[in-house]
Amino acid sequence: MPPAVSMLLFIFGFLVVPAVADCECGYTAPIGSASMPVSNFTFTDIIESDFVHIKNISLDTDWKRQSFAVTPAAGRGPYGMNYTVNNVISNPILDVNNWTGPGILGGDPGLQFTVDGGIPTDGYVKVAQMDSSRTDLLWGSYRASMQLTLTAGTCSAFFWYFNDSQEIDMEFLSSQFIVENNTFPVNLVLQSPQSVQAGFNAVGAGNYKVVNLSFNPTIGFHEYRVDFVPGNVIFYADGSELATMNTTAVPTQPGHLILTQWSNGNDLWSFGPPTEDALIVVDYVKAYFNSSLTERQSDWATRCRDTTLPGAFCTIPDWNTPSSPSTPTLISGNSTQPFFFSDQNNMTVNQTVYHKSKGTTTASDAVQQTVMMLAALSFVIAVVL
Ligand SMILES: *[C@@H]1O[C@H](CO)[C@@H](O)[C@H](O)[C@H]1NC(C)=O
Ligand SMILES: *[C@@H]1O[C@H](CO)[C@@H](O)[C@H](O)[C@H]1NC(C)=O
Ligand SMILES: *[C@@H]1O[C@H](CO)[C@@H](O)[C@H](O)[C@H]1NC(C)=O
Ligand SMILES: *[C@@H]1O[C@H](CO)[C@@H](O)[C@H](O)[C@H]1NC(C)=O
Ligand SMILES: *[C@@H]1O[C@H](CO)[C@@H](O)[C@H](O)[C@H]1NC(C)=O
Ligand SMILES: *[C@@H]1O[C@H](CO)[C@@H](O)[C@H](O)[C@H]1NC(C)=O
Ligand SMILES: *[C@@H]1O[C@H](CO)[C@@H](O)[C@H](O)[C@H]1NC(C)=O
Ligand SMILES: *[C@@H]1O[C@H](CO)[C@@H](O)[C@H](O)[C@H]1NC(C)=O
Ligand SMILES: *[C@@H]1O[C@H](CO)[C@@H](O)[C@H](O)[C@H]1NC(C)=O
Ligand SMILES: *[C@@H]1O[C@H](CO)[C@@H](O)[C@H](O)[C@H]1NC(C)=O
Ligand SMILES: *[C@@H]1O[C@H](CO)[C@@H](O)[C@H](O)[C@H]1NC(C)=O
Ligand SMILES: *[C@@H]1O[C@H](CO)[C@@H](O)[C@H](O)[C@H]1NC(C)=O
Repeated sequence: MPPAVSMLLFIFGFLVVPAVADCECGYTAPIGSASMPVSNFTFTDIIESDFVHIKNISLDTDWKRQSFAVTPAAGRGPYGMNYTVNNVISNPILDVNNWTGPGILGGDPGLQFTVDGGIPTDGYVKVAQMDSSRTDLLWGSYRASMQLTLTAGTCSAFFWYFNDSQEIDMEFLSSQFIVENNTFPVNLVLQSPQSVQAGFNAVGAGNYKVVNLSFNPTIGFHEYRVDFVPGNVIFYADGSELATMNTTAVPTQPGHLILTQWSNGNDLWSFGPPTEDALIVVDYVKAYFNSSLTERQSDWATRCRDTTLPGAFCTIPDWNTPSSPSTPTLISGNSTQPFFFSDQNNMTVNQTVYHKSKGTTTASDAVQQTVMMLAALSFVIAVVL
């Protein structure tokens, strides 16, 4: 065998790593709670966004920063709101091969959502919102890792939305955070036709619950999660259940995800505006879900050849990255790297645009490019030999 060929075989053998699993039938997780028996749910589709490594959110086709205005009357606050795309900006990690360390703008890396501080001269507070591009998100497990703000006078939220009466919210009011008493509530809400009628007051009927978090959400990053399955919505923080809701307000339609921080001075909810810029950071969103689109469903039917094949289903790992209060610049607690199927070999066959849009060059892309270059270089060397 000529040395060039054996060298090629060597390179090839080295590069083709056998797939551990290809998850072609979907992603699975045991879901349940005290009021809902645990069973394994499977989801066919995935969107994972690693905002620590995504360089420029404006190029990311999975997400759309929002630009619109809400009048004081519509928002029922003394101020209007000016949703401004530049209030959502990327602060990617300085060293792309790292999972700890500062962002290029300093501070913790991730996507920054800012509510401008001070009284707005035009009566409109500049606020921040970003929506998922896909609106076909039905049953699913939806997760966001975030660092909230202590600057009083804003509402930060991670939510799933179809319309004003089919909506699942995790809302954090910075005015409710009391550091000296270690009190950090989260407001868990299902909007319903009743709450819409009552002026978005979801109190009563089991569709609104305030839970004190067991940690300070303004230090380090914590994972907020909503599991939305037929008849039940389970809310979690750092993998622990906060509440389960099983009323008729549990949505039935497909929706999209929203990350936001806003303030309109309403003294029943957001308070504010904050006296200084209020900044929250989101370091990832992971969505495992079933699509309402027939084309995605038939793609799944083609892709999933045999549900009994090893690796046909992949288990969604639980949150496992404790945040370390003493080292808040560690993005993942004690540097346990968050798991992304998208960063593994062949675990996202025929999934969506992640790693394909220009905004989403990540550490693993960089590594892959290095391997490719190494391969090209080795090939040149082999030919020379
Ligand atoms: C990746 O998954 C596809 C679809 O299941 C399979 O056909 C292919 O052989 C896998 N590729 C590798 C390199 O394992
Ligand atoms: C709904 O949850 C309550 C507890 O909050 C439980 O007692 C009840 O059995 C549940 N109903 C259904 C239909 O799951
Ligand atoms: C869910 O699936 C896992 C892995 O196949 C299995 O170990 C576990 O027992 C299942 N759980 C339930 C509640 O069926
Ligand atoms: C998601 O879709 C797959 C494929 O149709 C199905 O097997 C699974 O049960 C669905 N999951 C839920 C929660 O309905
Ligand atoms: C992000 O991309 C947009 C569109 O190409 C560009 O205008 C902007 O300057 C970029 N931002 C950064 C920080 O590179
Ligand atoms: C929102 O902010 C932009 C940029 O500063 C400005 O051009 C626009 O007039 C503002 N809209 C409102 C309703 O205040
Ligand atoms: C990257 O991580 C290594 C240790 O894992 C650390 O020594 C280095 O300082 C980090 N780089 C930056 C820019 O933080
Ligand atoms: C939301 O959609 C549902 C289902 O289509 C509909 O019944 C309900 O009236 C809608 N709610 C609002 C506030 O438009
Ligand atoms: C904190 O707790 C103490 C003792 O229970 C109480 O006196 C104080 O009012 C609380 N502080 C706030 C800001 O609620
Ligand atoms: C949350 O903590 C505050 C202050 O310690 C307390 O007053 C309140 O009752 C707690 N709320 C819940 C739902 O436990
Ligand atoms: C991926 O999707 C394309 C186009 O929908 C289809 O032709 C192909 O068979 C799919 N691949 C797998 C592994 O399902
Ligand atoms: C990370 O933190 C967890 C919980 O605090 C601890 O059990 C584990 O040993 C730590 N791992 C490392 C590598 O420091």
